[in-house]
Amino acid sequence: MSQAARAAWLRDELARHNHRYYVLDEPEVSDAEYDQLLRELQQLEIAEPALCTADSPTQRVGSAPSTAFDSVRHPAPMLSLDNALSDDELQAFDTRLRERLGTAGTVRFSAEPKLDGLAVSVIYREGVLWRAATRGDGEQGEDITANMRTLRCLPLRLLGDAPALLEARGEVYMPVAGFESLNVEQSRQGLKLFVNPRNAAAGSLRQLDPRITARRPLEICFYALGALEGGPLLTTHAAALAALRNWGLRTSPEARLVQGVEGCRAYFADLQQRRATLPYQIDGVVYKVDEFADQERLGFVSRAPRWAIARKFPAEEARTVLRAVDFQVGRTGALTPVARLDPVLVGGATVSNATLHNMDEIARKDICIGDTIVVRRAGDVIPEVVRSVPALRPVDAAVIVLPLQCPVCQSVVERIEGEAVARCTGALRCRAQRHEALRHYASRRALDIDGLGDVIIGQLIDADLVQSPADLYSLPRAALAALPRMGDKSAGNLVDAIAASRSTTLARFLFGLGIADVGEATAAALARQFGNLQALSGATAEQIELTPDVGPVVSRHVTAFFADPLNLQIIARLREAGVQWVEGEPTAGAVLPLTGQTFVLTGTLPTLSRDEAKARLEAAGAKVAGSVSKRTQYVVAGEEAGSKLDKARELGVQVIDERGLLELLAAVGAG
Ligand code: IVH
Repeated sequence: MSQAARAAWLRDELARHNHRYYVLDEPEVSDAEYDQLLRELQQLEIAEPALCTADSPTQRVGSAPSTAFDSVRHPAPMLSLDNALSDDELQAFDTRLRERLGTAGTVRFSAEPKLDGLAVSVIYREGVLWRAATRGDGEQGEDITANMRTLRCLPLRLLGDAPALLEARGEVYMPVAGFESLNVEQSRQGLKLFVNPRNAAAGSLRQLDPRITARRPLEICFYALGALEGGPLLTTHAAALAALRNWGLRTSPEARLVQGVEGCRAYFADLQQRRATLPYQIDGVVYKVDEFADQERLGFVSRAPRWAIARKFPAEEARTVLRAVDFQVGRTGALTPVARLDPVLVGGATVSNATLHNMDEIARKDICIGDTIVVRRAGDVIPEVVRSVPALRPVDAAVIVLPLQCPVCQSVVERIEGEAVARCTGALRCRAQRHEALRHYASRRALDIDGLGDVIIGQLIDADLVQSPADLYSLPRAALAALPRMGDKSAGNLVDAIAASRSTTLARFLFGLGIADVGEATAAALARQFGNLQALSGATAEQIELTPDVGPVVSRHVTAFFADPLNLQIIARLREAGVQWVEGEPTAGAVLPLTGQTFVLTGTLPTLSRDEAKARLEAAGAKVAGSVSKRTQYVVAGEEAGSKLDKARELGVQVIDERGLLELLAAVGAG
């Protein structure tokens, strides 16, 4: 056999073993034998580089680290799913369907686990993996092809008769066992632990260096067909899943066809019961009408199909005893009461701390120290105390009182009329606020200082090297290198990363300052409205309130921030340290998120008046027109929408409802 033929044979053989291992779960060879074949192929390719093809299994980690992900547009929007939180809601879904379809009989559904990971679109052209992208806002996502290539369960080339174009959609997730060993490794290296498999999967996919992703135990399971050209005629979802499997793509072995609501319920009960024994985390079940013809007749409402629904598992609850309450100080000084509990197992994790939110919530739920309470844990969210069980209240139960002084810095605690939150007034004099402020300043969406994580910030504060973000810019490399587990090379990298953060944008800088309630979108709006920092810092609350979507609470926080001499001093020092951004005029008429997009409103919206909807769209840069044409991007339809809706359908213009509009505005930062 020639070397070229041998290389081709090895590639096919390795792809076949991958498929047997990951998709069929029927390996034919041991890991060692697989590695042996891979090494032989690697050696052939090293000796004769011309033998190496893009779809060779040696080329999974192909490209060098990049600096950013490209933005890509999905061939068709990636939708989300409506939720059913109870059997009644599921019943209502089924009734709606049958009414719309005009059928008295039972509907056949494909029932599948709802995997708790990240939605990804993967495109194959002529059978070769071409592009993979995150869901993003549903319309546009990030190109993560280099990272996705490192998933060994994802074939680089499809098996069998490949279509000209295939877009398959699925969920990338981290199996529980892989997540646990990753965290063991993280802790061994003194790195931050991931909170759950979903976050670990998200963090792993977001790596700019595919070599890091390659070391993370990620898997993908496909659950839908996106686009298909030149493939077989598929008329049901079950057939589509079978086709994906035949092309070598993993689909859920738990997917089943079920009949009507009864079948859905039985499937749900079975999966819920086996949930804890599955090797991956799921947060519910998805039901999809199996017939494509029926799916088409049912269509979509805003961003979700009418033909599918996610039946979420209820949040898990357990009883335990509240032993004490501590107050944690957040970035903006907010004091959050944290319940210290007798450890209890809830939803697969031991919980010994839970949030009590704020003093109003404690009063509303009537909670005392010593009470037996109910804790709840759902998916990603922090466990919370739901209620007390008054019948079990001990005689010595103690009322929870808000401290008068900050538990960290002893500054006065202030509670403003009408606000639920109590705050420490110490600002950056408070160690807790300083820590959180630095973490926020360095975070990805703010000044984006790579490598300045939680642990290092803690060390810098403990060593009294940093009081405020301004001190970061004068940190000597040697002082950094002397920190535990740091070393000279990492210290150098960190100094470089800090230096690189000097040029930024006004919006990022404002966000990075960490003013209470000024999130990314508000920071961007303020930057647009005022153009430069001086104008903003000198503005009155009334002037600030003229900014779109800024109300009295935010404007009060902004004026209070600029009224504190310590904050002004820090800003001055940041500027002296060379932090700079492009300043300009207020940018009325500039390019806003929806500039160039035309909307048409029709019918009565449930909550927004037509003027409000128009004002909000225009504030985001959109044009609101009176009639539908080919140039219309969206028709927003409410109750009793008339001919404009028909026209939109005729022209294939996207129709959304109020919810869709609000989601869209939120997605572009104008919500
Ligand atoms: S179907 C049009 N099937 O859930 C239908 N989604 O809330 C689109 N998900 O973004 C989704 N498992 O990330 C579908 N078996 C499954 C799923 C699933 C998990 C995720 C997916 C989607 C989200 C919608």
